[in-house]
Amino acid sequence: LAIAWSSQDAVLDGYASFYEMELQQSPSAFYDTVAALMTTDHQAVVDQLSIDPYELQRIRKVVIIGCGTSYHAGLVGRYLIEHLARIPVEVDVASEYRYRDPILDADTLVVGISQSGESLETITALRECVASGARTIAITNVIGSQLSRVADGVLYTRAGPEISVASTKTHLAQVGALGMLAIYLGELKGVLYPDEASRRRQELIAMAELLRATLDRQSQWRAGIGDYLSREHFFFIGRNLLYPVAMEGALKMKELSYIAAEAYPAGELKHGPIAMLDEQAVVVALLGDDRLHEKMLGNIEEVRARGATILAVATDGDAGPDELADIVLRVPKSEALWSPLLMVLPLQVMAGWMAQARGYDLDKPRNLAKTVTVE
Ligand code: G6P
Repeated sequence: LAIAWSSQDAVLDGYASFYEMELQQSPSAFYDTVAALMTTDHQAVVDQLSIDPYELQRIRKVVIIGCGTSYHAGLVGRYLIEHLARIPVEVDVASEYRYRDPILDADTLVVGISQSGESLETITALRECVASGARTIAITNVIGSQLSRVADGVLYTRAGPEISVASTKTHLAQVGALGMLAIYLGELKGVLYPDEASRRRQELIAMAELLRATLDRQSQWRAGIGDYLSREHFFFIGRNLLYPVAMEGALKMKELSYIAAEAYPAGELKHGPIAMLDEQAVVVALLGDDRLHEKMLGNIEEVRARGATILAVATDGDAGPDELADIVLRVPKSEALWSPLLMVLPLQVMAGWMAQARGYDLDKPRNLAKTVTVE
C-alpha cells in the first residue's frame, strides 16, 4: 500500500480557505474511498481487514467508537449496519466507552473511527478492546497512524490531507467506508444475497455523482439563507438516519460560528426543548423521503406553532415543507439509506457561511485543535 499524500501536499487551490476547498473535494474523497473497497464488478475488496471472514460471520455485536465528527459518522454507520447486516450496533464517544467497563468478547467487532488516527481517546479505548479479546477495525485517513496499528484490520478513507480543523470530506468518506463494511457484513451473514450486495455497492458508487450535483446547488441555497445568518440560536432536528446528520450540522455550526446550536431527535423536541422556542429561534428540519416523512411534517408543524423560523432540508419534488417552512434547501432524491450523505452537505456549507458572515477564520476555529492527543 503506497502512501498517496502528505499534509505538505495541501495547497489552497484558489479557495479562500481549506474548509471550502475540502468541502468541495467531498465527492472525490467519497468516491476514492468506496471504489478502493470494491472490484470493477462490485465485489468486496477487503484485503486490509486482516480478519478471517469466518470470524466476521460469527460477530454478534458491533461497537463503534470515535470523537467529534468521526463519532457522528459512527452514528450513521449504526443504521447502515443494523439495516444491511442485521447485527445490533452500539455507538459511543471514545472517552466515555473506555470507562464503561465494556462487555466484550471474540464475537464483538469494535470499529474505531478517526480521521487522523491519532486521537488519544479513540486509540486508548480501542487498545483496551483489543486486550479484552474483541475483533477490531480502524477506519482512518492516515496510513500508518497509531489507530491503524492498534487494530486487527483497517479500512482506509482516501480523502487526502484534511487541513481545516472542522472535518468535511473525511466525514463523507467515513460514512462511505461504513456503508461498505455494512454491505460486506450483510453478505457474510447471508442477509444480503451476492447480487443485492453488488447492487448496494453500485448505489454507493453512484452517490459520488449525486454529491457533486448537490454541491452545485450552493448559489440556490444561498439565495434564501442570507436573512438568517445573523440569528444566534439554532436547533437541528431529524429522525432515524437523519438524527446523526442533525448532530453533525449543530456541531459544525458550534465549531465555526460559536453560536448555540443543538440537535434533537425530532420526536424528542416536545419532551422539553420545545419550551425554548420563540421567534428568535431557527429550526433546521431534515426531511427525508422515508416512512417517517409524515411524522417529521407533524414535528415541523409543532415548531411552527411556537413561532420559530423553519429552514427545511428536503429532497427534490417533496411538496411537504412548502407551506410550512420559511426556506427549503433542496437536495437530489436518493435511496433513503444513503440520504445522510447528501443532507449533511447544505449544513456544512451553511456553517461556513455563518462563520464568514461573522468574520471568523474557517480553518482555525478558536479553542480547537485538529487532532487531540490528550484526554
Ligand atoms: C477534534 C477536531 C474535530 C474532530 C475530532 C476527532 O476534536 O476538532 O473536528 O472531529 O477531533 O478527530 P479524529 O482525527 O479522531 O477523527
